[in-house]
Amino acid sequence: MFSKIFLGLAGAATVLAQQPVESLYEVDASLPGHTIYRPSDMSSFEQMPVVVWGNGACSADSLSHVNFNLEVAAWGIVLISQGTPGQQGSTTPDMMKQAIDWISTNAGTGNYANVNASRIAAAGMSCGGTEAYAMVDDPRVSAYGIFNSGNLDPAQTTSIMPQINVPIFFFLGGPSDIAYENGMRDYAAVNQGVPTWVGNLPVGHGGTYGDPRGGKFGTAAQQFFRWALRADSSVNSFFTDRGAQADGWTVESKSLENLSPGEPW
Ligand SMILES: *[C@@H]1O[C@H](CO)[C@@H](O)[C@H](O)[C@H]1NC(C)=O
Repeated sequence: MFSKIFLGLAGAATVLAQQPVESLYEVDASLPGHTIYRPSDMSSFEQMPVVVWGNGACSADSLSHVNFNLEVAAWGIVLISQGTPGQQGSTTPDMMKQAIDWISTNAGTGNYANVNASRIAAAGMSCGGTEAYAMVDDPRVSAYGIFNSGNLDPAQTTSIMPQINVPIFFFLGGPSDIAYENGMRDYAAVNQGVPTWVGNLPVGHGGTYGDPRGGKFGTAAQQFFRWALRADSSVNSFFTDRGAQADGWTVESKSLENLSPGEPW
C-alpha cells in the first residue's frame, strides 16, 4: 500500500526546513500495523527527529489525522502513526513501543540514514494521548505532545505526571473540550523546571486536524516538534512571544526558558 500527497510549496529543502516540503505516507512490511509519514525526499534533511503518534479513539485507521500528520512530516519529521490506512478496530500502547523499537533499529541506515532516533516525541490525540503517556517509563522519549487529551483518572495524573522530566506541551480545545479539565489538571501537575506549555483554541474536542494542513493544530504542532526535537530557533517565538495568541490560542507556560535553542532536549 502506498500513497502520495502533495502539500504544495515543495521547494529547496534545507537542513532545518524553513518551509514545508512534499510529504507522503506509506506502510512498511517490516513494521506491521503502522503507517510512516515522512518527507518524500529523505536525503535533504539531517538529524531528522521522530514522532510516534496515537489516533483519536485509539483508532487503528492511520488516516484519522491524515492532513495533520502530513503537515508534521512536511517539516522534516518522521511521524509513525498507529494503525494502517482504513483499518478498523483499535490500537494498544505496545504498538507505540514497537514503532520506537523499529525506528531505533532503522535510523542511520537506508531510507532512514538521516534520522536521529535520539530525538523521539510520543504524542497523540484524545485516547492517543493516553497511549503516549503509557511510554512514560521509556527513556527514549524526549518530548510529549498531548492533544485534546489528559489522564482520565486523577490518580493517573498523580502517578504519571511526576515521572515526566522532558518537555510536554498540551494542545486543547478550550472549556468545551471534553478533555479540558483532564489536560489542565495534567498541565498543573508537571514537575517544576520541565518546559511545559498549554494552549487552548476554542474549537472543542475535535480540534482542527481535518482542515487543510491540519489547521491551527497543525501549525502549532509542527512548531513544537521542531523546537523540542530539532532546536529550530525560528519557532521559539510562537510559544515564548505572542505567536500562538495571535493565532487564537489562550496559553500558559512553565519553565520554557529551560528549552533553549541550540541543542535539542
Ligand atoms: C542525535 O541527537 C542527539 C540529541 O540531540 C545528539 O546528542 C547526537 O549527537 C545526535 N547524533 C548524531 C549522530 O549527530
